[in-house]
Amino acid sequence: MEPAALSVHPPARFLLGPGPSNVDPSVLQAAAAPVLGHLDPAYFPILAQVGAGLRRVFGTQNALTLAMPGTGFSGMEAALCNVLEGGDTILVGSIGYFGGKMAEIGRRCGANVQTLEGVWGQPLDPTAVAQALKQHAHVKVVALVLAETSTGVLQPLRDIARLAREHDALLLVDAVTALGGMPVGVDDLAIDVCYSCTQKCLGALPGLAPITFSERAVSAIQRRKRPVQSWYLDALALAEYWYGSPHAYHHTSNVSLVYALHQALALGEQEGWEARYARHLQHGQALQAGLEAMGLELFAAPSHQLPCSPPCAFRQALTTPQSAWRSLSNMARKLAVALANIGASSGGLA
Ligand SMILES: Cc1ncc(COP(=O)(O)O)c(C=O)c1O
Repeated sequence: MEPAALSVHPPARFLLGPGPSNVDPSVLQAAAAPVLGHLDPAYFPILAQVGAGLRRVFGTQNALTLAMPGTGFSGMEAALCNVLEGGDTILVGSIGYFGGKMAEIGRRCGANVQTLEGVWGQPLDPTAVAQALKQHAHVKVVALVLAETSTGVLQPLRDIARLAREHDALLLVDAVTALGGMPVGVDDLAIDVCYSCTQKCLGALPGLAPITFSERAVSAIQRRKRPVQSWYLDALALAEYWYGSPHAYHHTSNVSLVYALHQALALGEQEGWEARYARHLQHGQALQAGLEAMGLELFAAPSHQLPCSPPCAFRQALTTPQSAWRSLSNMARKLAVALANIGASSGGLA
């Protein structure tokens, strides 16, 4: 029989936003490998290898490390809803659009959300975090975005991690625009919950959210008074599927996306993660220098610019009229280039 003709013909684009990114052809090829059933014994070693690869790139020994179904926001939702329950207090340090989303999800978990608003373009000051931790009793979780995509700011974590420990709070970190593009160092920094996505620096396909929980975080989940409010994103139930003996069915795994992630992790290891981080840094600095040479003022303070190349927000973006963005987008489309979705449409960067 003749193979069926393809019914979908998306245009090829050079993706220059922070994600999704163009993927290596071998990643697409991996996704096209034969679909296995999610309980096929041949599939579990693949899950275990992905888990091990994720541990290496997160920089952790955490047993509970896997890829949640869904994109980066699924990781955010999973991270927050597993450790928070109604009435818990969370301190969210927000220095941009995505920090605001953490606060919103925290409220939807029924938590008492205390938001520490920093200055967009600057990292949070640990002194302000220390004050907030003194001011609010029994903070269970301190949540931050490591790489704030909306402003291009890199948030240093070491001092804040120490403060969280001193106050016996869990440190929860969004590494959506960091993982695979810069060292995250989950164990080195004693991060308790860290999540990311697959379609940015990891160079895999959209649709999975790598996540890792420390033993402290796992024991906080085990001590919950009520079950995790999201059945689908329940991390301990998913761990029973990924690593249980026997593997317990939870939901139908996104097998093709897992194959793609497996290949993307293998490519990262082949290049060497440190070499890849150095490459991102070099290209990021070149892009930033080029933008500045064009007279654009970068949003992030120079000492806290993200090393990964694409998220370079610049201040003129806020005052550029919509019509100019439209012409720029049209021009880019003609050149088969996709730009980041930044603009002043909602009065801010996103
Ligand atoms: C820092 C950060 N967190 C969370 C998200 C949400 O990820 P997704 O769009 O994959 O759901 C993004 C998306 O760009 C992000 O940059």
